[in-house]
Amino acid sequence: MSSVPSIAWINGRFLPLEEACVPVLDRGFIFGDGVYEVIPVYAGKPFRLAHHLQRLANSLAAVRIDDPHTQDQWQTLIAELIQRNGGGDQSIYLQVTRGIAPRDHRFPEGSRPTVFLMSNPFRPVPESELREGVAAVTLNDIRWEYCHIKSISLLPNILLRQQAVEQGAAEAILLRHGQVTEGAASNVFIVSDHVIVTPPKGDCLLPGITRDLVVELAMEHAQECEERAIPEAELRRAQEIWLTSSTREILPVTRLDGLPVGEGRPGPHWQTMISHYRRFVDDLRRDA
Ligand SMILES: Cc1ncc(COP(=O)(O)O)c(C=O)c1O
Repeated sequence: MSSVPSIAWINGRFLPLEEACVPVLDRGFIFGDGVYEVIPVYAGKPFRLAHHLQRLANSLAAVRIDDPHTQDQWQTLIAELIQRNGGGDQSIYLQVTRGIAPRDHRFPEGSRPTVFLMSNPFRPVPESELREGVAAVTLNDIRWEYCHIKSISLLPNILLRQQAVEQGAAEAILLRHGQVTEGAASNVFIVSDHVIVTPPKGDCLLPGITRDLVVELAMEHAQECEERAIPEAELRRAQEIWLTSSTREILPVTRLDGLPVGEGRPGPHWQTMISHYRRFVDDLRRDA
């Protein structure tokens, strides 16, 4: 880990994370009125930055917060934050809220968005989880109908993840109207009759950057992959289940609701996909 102190950015200033603060009337604090991104950084290089910035722009537009920066400004800001935090592997957290205003549900007039960025250490998934896989439980998807927005209002996701953890699982796989949507903080893939399947994008799930890359890698390497609904029964008889996210990359699930998934070990399709993914990251590292 780097010995450089963690440097954050708040509304136009770099400063040590401990010194970064927002007024209590910030609508992010009062209402959870804002959006965010988490961007992995490998060898000092942000991963799929254009994709993350596009999703940020989509989230901001969806909640009607004016984008406070141009794409170039975001890129410059993120590059400087990475550098000030010592380069290497990091995880950049970026948040934009509707700003500071007297508490009132309706949009305030003339408030400026609050922009906050910080760098966290990138913690690789423990080897044991990659060797043995993790447990997941299914839970009812209690969230709202705009799950494609990367909103900071994460109370339902937090409650769902905590329920999973209390049942000894690493993630909750969510079901809505009898179909898989996603995880509490991840997207879901299954392998069904040797075909990789993931639910289609829409307002029931976040369009994960890792998810999209996995779909691309499957296509590039001629692994059959379908984006379609996954009924609960198909999830339960899947040969493999994977979770994808920027921080956990592609994680095999080997127990679902206490029962083994397939043979109860990370499967051959996961082995193939994780090696494609690692090669992709290694290429990025080499170009850095
Ligand atoms: C609800 C939800 N779905 C999916 C993902 C995965 O998205 P990404 O691959 O862009 O990290 C996340 C990531 O945090 C998430 O919170």
